[in-house]
Amino acid sequence: MSAEDLAAVAQSGYDDGSIPRYVSNVRGHSRAAPAKTPDSVRTLEILSPSTDSMATLVALEGILDEAVPLQAKHRASLRGDIRRLWEELTSEKESRTAEYLGSPPALSAYLRYFLPWNVFRLVSLLTNADFCLPDNAVIADIGSGPLTLPIALWIARPELREVPLSIYCVDRVERVLEAGLNIFQTLCMRVGGRLPPWRIETRKDSFGSPLPERAHLLTAANVFNEFFWKDKRNLGERAIETARTLLSYLKENGSLFVMEPGDPRSGAFISSLRAALLAEGAPPLGPCPHALSCPMPGIFRHLLPPEETRIVKGDPNVAPSRFVLPPVVMPKKRDKFPWCHFGVDAQKAPKWLETLSEEAGLPKERAVLSYLWAARGAVVRAPVGMPDPVRSAERDRRAKAGRGILVRVVSESFALPDGSTGQYACSSLGYTLLKRPRGEEPFGSGALLEVTSSQAQRTDEKSGAIILPT
Ligand SMILES: C[S@@+](CC[C@H](N)C(=O)[O-])C[C@H]1O[C@@H](n2cnc3c(N)ncnc32)[C@H](O)[C@@H]1O
Repeated sequence: MSAEDLAAVAQSGYDDGSIPRYVSNVRGHSRAAPAKTPDSVRTLEILSPSTDSMATLVALEGILDEAVPLQAKHRASLRGDIRRLWEELTSEKESRTAEYLGSPPALSAYLRYFLPWNVFRLVSLLTNADFCLPDNAVIADIGSGPLTLPIALWIARPELREVPLSIYCVDRVERVLEAGLNIFQTLCMRVGGRLPPWRIETRKDSFGSPLPERAHLLTAANVFNEFFWKDKRNLGERAIETARTLLSYLKENGSLFVMEPGDPRSGAFISSLRAALLAEGAPPLGPCPHALSCPMPGIFRHLLPPEETRIVKGDPNVAPSRFVLPPVVMPKKRDKFPWCHFGVDAQKAPKWLETLSEEAGLPKERAVLSYLWAARGAVVRAPVGMPDPVRSAERDRRAKAGRGILVRVVSESFALPDGSTGQYACSSLGYTLLKRPRGEEPFGSGALLEVTSSQAQRTDEKSGAIILPT
């Protein structure tokens, strides 16, 4: 994509397709379950596992027992091992070694607790995401661990079980890849009765090492929080370097999908990566309903400090506009902005996993996550509702075509002082407050809505968000 194209993308936002396309070379697909919504709202996507996926998740306990049986001594210490690994993984102190999953107690804890919860998160996303892969597609999964992503893909998208795929699973720890392959094959045999025509190649390697071929889809789940923050250069510079490395794995129109735990640090990482990918020619397609500035960037501010915007290290010819996105309405000024993250209702997880989590002292109400889909040279959707002439014209055009504003619901619902219900969301307007009459069913966190609202927009005094009545 040329610098002019990129500037146009950033200025005009997404094109007029109201249904997103997360992966290039796709057949059309949309799985949004019908939700009870007012006439002014159309649900395009939800964040939830399908009923079939939930049944498979129930079976996962037995599959783990068969594929990676626990030795008696590890069974006895499992709950404590889970708790210890959770403390290590969620601590910002980084006390664990790079090969921590090579130790049997940590590996057992990962396979029994982290793998199923990550499959649950991924299945909730992949079930509803608007993508499907062409025959013989190449996928590269970086930091694959126990093949969590291929396992989730197989569970979430039954139609792909018949499609020949090549999947490179890359991790710096061989042992966890081997365990994952065993689990994957046991799952396919037990639930599907046969292995899919997927060529899975496990590779003991690190992020940045070359692969034999470029990928249609690059995935990385829960990986960057393991090493991204060890580098002490400024956030924007590191995001640009990461974006370039990610894109170097992709075919010309390839897509990428990154999911991270929904904590504040990973929210800022995702926002910085989004900006860097946009600057490098890969606009965000999800969860973002626009390609303007991110109104929920956490601690992320800019890709390059303003004084450096003109001299981009390693690329002096780059237009500065690439690194400065058009502004949107931001939350009221504060030290840290809210960070973009979503929660899946943990009640939908299998009972055995809930019980194990409680026994390990880690009860869960919501499984949180932050994520990003982006595609090289993607066509993006047009923003509406921005108060400048171009966007007003665009809004009028969409309104005439019966199209509303695309809105991604972020928060749970909460009571507003006037007795109505609010939910924070993202739209091409920027930081958005969806307002509903009290007693109406809230929208699900992570849902993508098309909202047709004719009411004049005003700003919520407390949060700074644009109010969008529904
Ligand atoms: C938290 S686990 C995530 C595993 C899996 N993707 C999931 O979502 O469950 C992180 C994995 O990334 C691997 N990893 C960490 N840094 C890596 C790097 N620089 N290159 C390749 N793998 C890496 C670790 O060995 C570990 O298996």
